Amino acid sequence: MARGLETSAAVSCRDLVKNYGAGDSLVRALRGVDLDVFPGELTLLVGPSGCGKTTLLSVVAGILEPTSGKVEVLGLDLATMSRSKKVSFRRENIGFVFQQYNLLPALSAAENVTIPLILAGYSRRQALGSAIDLLRRMDMGERAHAMPAQLSGGQQQRVAIARALVHHPRLLVCDEPTSALDAKTGHTIMELLRSVAVEGDRAVIIVTHDSRVFEFGDRIARMEDGHITGIDRPHSRLGREQQPALSASDSMAPFMGSPAEGG
Ligand SMILES: Nc1ncnc2c1ncn2[C@@H]1O[C@H](COP(=O)(O)OP(=O)(O)OP(=O)(O)O)[C@@H](O)[C@H]1O
Ligand SMILES: [Mg+2]
Repeated sequence: MARGLETSAAVSCRDLVKNYGAGDSLVRALRGVDLDVFPGELTLLVGPSGCGKTTLLSVVAGILEPTSGKVEVLGLDLATMSRSKKVSFRRENIGFVFQQYNLLPALSAAENVTIPLILAGYSRRQALGSAIDLLRRMDMGERAHAMPAQLSGGQQQRVAIARALVHHPRLLVCDEPTSALDAKTGHTIMELLRSVAVEGDRAVIIVTHDSRVFEFGDRIARMEDGHITGIDRPHSRLGREQQPALSASDSMAPFMGSPAEGG
């Protein structure tokens, strides 16, 4: 087993570069990203549209290959894994909440949530039981047997979150998980994600534009134009990161906006 770049980190990225296309259509989405993500913490990734957040999550989760640089996840170098090993590693260890949810339209809410458990070898009956329990905790018990097309955006989003959580992955990666949720539901979901991180000792990365989510972050990584430009630890007196801490007001200011700006 390859040794981790920083042994306690669940994710270590070093000088990560990802280009899309070539020639005139070249897009340099990641331009040398260094980032560590730790178990037991909720790490927020914030930054303007198009700065590379979804690209970074996809590379960390082994869905996209980086152009260059190194990613280690749970102590393993993704580049050295065969395709099939990567698929099974991802299934077992990583939960991913996609920005567009990606629910399977022909399966009910609960059946969508069972997928990771079925792939892990659980019986349909056991898997459905766990899926429905989790959906109940997310205030979705009454809609557990509805089809995705019959659910509101916020309900679909909760199904996508449940599907990513249900098999207790060691790394949970969420792309804008509260974007479709009202304040109260968003708060409930963030408390759940925080308990996954802190009580479950899991690493949780959340991309967000939602200022209501900031209070839940142990570590806030700011991203701009393909780079991590700063890391803030708002609740900590002992900074663990190499980069200088930013003040909370500095780090949040670009994302807070004023009510008049309308989002
Ligand atoms: N498949 C692709 N092919 C070409 N360019 C892409 C592709 N996916 C993303 N990009 C470009 O890469 C850059 C980073 O995109 P990415 O989706 O990672 O941004 P983001 O920070 O997640 O944005 P948003 O907040 O809008 O979701 C953007 O300029 C985008 O247009
Ligand atoms: Mg995105």
